[in-house]
Amino acid sequence: MMHSEFIPKYLPKTVNSGSVVCQAPSNIALVKYWGKYGEQLPQNASVSFTLSECRTETTLYFEKTTEDSTFNFEVYLDGKRETGFEPKIRKFFERIYSYVPFLKMYQFKIETKNTFPHSSGIASSASGMGALSMCLVAIENKLGANYDTHFSNKKASFLARLGSGSAARSIEGPLVVWGEHPQLEGSSNLFGMKYPYTVHENFKDYQDSILLVDKGEKQVSSTVGHDLMNGNPYAEARFKTANGNLEKLISVFESGDISAFINIVESEALQLHGMMMASEPYFILMKPNTLEIINRIWQLRNDTGSKVCFTLDAGANVHVLYPISEKEVVQQFIETQLSPFCKNGEYIHDGCGLGATIVNS
Ligand code: PMV
Repeated sequence: MMHSEFIPKYLPKTVNSGSVVCQAPSNIALVKYWGKYGEQLPQNASVSFTLSECRTETTLYFEKTTEDSTFNFEVYLDGKRETGFEPKIRKFFERIYSYVPFLKMYQFKIETKNTFPHSSGIASSASGMGALSMCLVAIENKLGANYDTHFSNKKASFLARLGSGSAARSIEGPLVVWGEHPQLEGSSNLFGMKYPYTVHENFKDYQDSILLVDKGEKQVSSTVGHDLMNGNPYAEARFKTANGNLEKLISVFESGDISAFINIVESEALQLHGMMMASEPYFILMKPNTLEIINRIWQLRNDTGSKVCFTLDAGANVHVLYPISEKEVVQQFIETQLSPFCKNGEYIHDGCGLGATIVNS
């Protein structure tokens, strides 16, 4: 199905060559997206904190080409050609071609770098696809599309989603919803949007420290993981629960009830992993140290009444979430109690951010 809103009607300007630079951050889901259908459409709505420090910066060089029947591009990571990334980008270009018709008119050089180590096990696909999509929309504007910021962001999120679903949530911030939900006006399966309702002070500048438990390649790619939901006997119940959790979060965000927030967020993380354990073939993506960390977080909460909690992506790393008012205490706790369970003692302190930016256009 084509979504005509995102097909540019007329691009009046000719630009022979140039470059744009954009940055996009990573994000951490509070209600998880796991399971998709059609062309990168989510089976349930999700919501995430947009991060601030973990970002990808992409410079997209473009030059008019006479050969306009194929996609012509090269990808560089930290200045080094990365042919390994090119099949994924080619697939992305194929998916978005109807919405970005100038893609075959130029040859591109995509130069990209992350503020976090590539091998850290932090998903770079959300920030990477977010930054590249921002660049493409910036070029479209140079060619005369003249979108306002609202539509530019909406289109960037729409394109990013076609590269990596969760990337749809990396354009704006600090809280982003993606996926149609009856209680969230304007929400769509096609793009992410800023969370539209009241958010209590307690959730402002929320902190996320990412504990690097396992830094290798993902054991299960998200593509495989999402696909496994198709045969999962608990899938329908999971999609319903996720949408229910998002609905509950609406009143939690408004009231500032961090205990209720913790309950939903930790349950979401464990359900995501539960789905993988209940898939065929089945996987355990946590490591013993993931559980050690979780138990220590629970212990601290029990002992001190702290509002620290955890969430997980589809891997062994732990995202430690806490209100900014507990920053000092929790960061000290991470340093002394949790870092011994991290690979080489490594972790990254991050917090909520406002989303993608055009650095230079
Ligand atoms: O964007 P993908 O296809 O890599 O899926 C990511 C899914 C999770 O990170 C596990 C959850 C989420 O909502 O971000």
